[in-house]
Amino acid sequence: MKRIGVLTSGGDAPGMNAAIRAVVRTSLSNDMSVVGFKRGYNGVLMRSLDQIDDYQMMTSRSVSDKIHRGGTFLMTARCLEFVQPEVQEKAVKNLKTLGVEGLICIGGDGTFQGANALNMKGLPTIGIPGTIDNDLDYTDFTIGFDTALNTACESINRIRETSDSHERASMVTVMGRNCGDIALHTALACGAEIVLIPEREWTVEEVADHMKWGVMKGKRSMIMIIAEGAIASLTSDVHKICAEHESLSDIVGTRLDTNQVARIVEVLSGQETRNTVLGYTQRGGSPTASDRVLASRLGARAVDLMRQDKSGVAVGIRKNKLIEVPIDEARGGRKADRELLKLVDVLS
Ligand code: ADP
Ligand code: F6P
Repeated sequence: MKRIGVLTSGGDAPGMNAAIRAVVRTSLSNDMSVVGFKRGYNGVLMRSLDQIDDYQMMTSRSVSDKIHRGGTFLMTARCLEFVQPEVQEKAVKNLKTLGVEGLICIGGDGTFQGANALNMKGLPTIGIPGTIDNDLDYTDFTIGFDTALNTACESINRIRETSDSHERASMVTVMGRNCGDIALHTALACGAEIVLIPEREWTVEEVADHMKWGVMKGKRSMIMIIAEGAIASLTSDVHKICAEHESLSDIVGTRLDTNQVARIVEVLSGQETRNTVLGYTQRGGSPTASDRVLASRLGARAVDLMRQDKSGVAVGIRKNKLIEVPIDEARGGRKADRELLKLVDVLS
């Protein structure tokens, strides 16, 4: 191959820049040119008035001073119409017109589905896992997960201090979409008392009992980590509980959020409880050394595979060895690590 493209798509993740850098520099050192497409699949569709808004030729200098920066300098976006076959065909046509013979797509599950569609339509693609969620089952880690964990831990250290001073319980809501990995690993790393994830059913009554038990054991404050997707695995009859408590009556009939969960837990446990939603703080920030190394290794491997004409795969890491799997098998649906879940309970 003489020319390939690279893009970042879906939610940004710290380390995406390091992956782009590795793709660009590995390609250039093998006499391949690289086109950087902007805003995910939107760039490939080339609908902007000014071409520079859609794509740019990458040089070694394009990726200077980027390895330590969070976000993605190629920018990212969601491009919902990319599910349509005619839109995908237009993308293939555009890429071929530019002389792009292969495309490296950095993102998560959705991005890989787009890449798979292009591959099936005759444009070779390779996926690099870039998402803080760590929800792709085929790889031990995705780029950005380690940074998100470290950021969450740093925030929770601060929350713990104020929580301790007030002898309160703190619920901390972390990202992860339908995957509990950020919550689980953060809980373990922060010594949290309770972790609530989408992959395990839970009740507010159990959480309240756990808190009461903690107080009896002499705990002055407690940290509960809740994954944003964990509302889906709550099995309590919340409406009944709220109808029985005057102070919770406004929750009846609303779509439950984690602030409301904290209020319910406070009423049932009798322990003052506050919720903090970490939100986008977990997605930004300079990537950790571990994410930079992973991104550099995966970026270089993706280019090596392209050079060997091996496409239609997603690269990843298992037991610290780089691997590749067919991209249509690189899906979400990661299972929660039962050993880690148990450890959070044992160590709490
Ligand atoms: P992530 O890649 O992090 O999982 P999304 O699920 O938002 O993020 O997907 C990112 C983009 O990938 C979408 O905006 C769309 O352009 C593309 N995409 C998602 N699902 C599909 C699909 N089934 N077919 C083609 N493209 C898709
Ligand atoms: O996939 C990364 C992620 O940050 C998820 O953890 C979160 O649910 C989602 O993206 C938020 O998406 P948006 O950028 O649309 O707010």
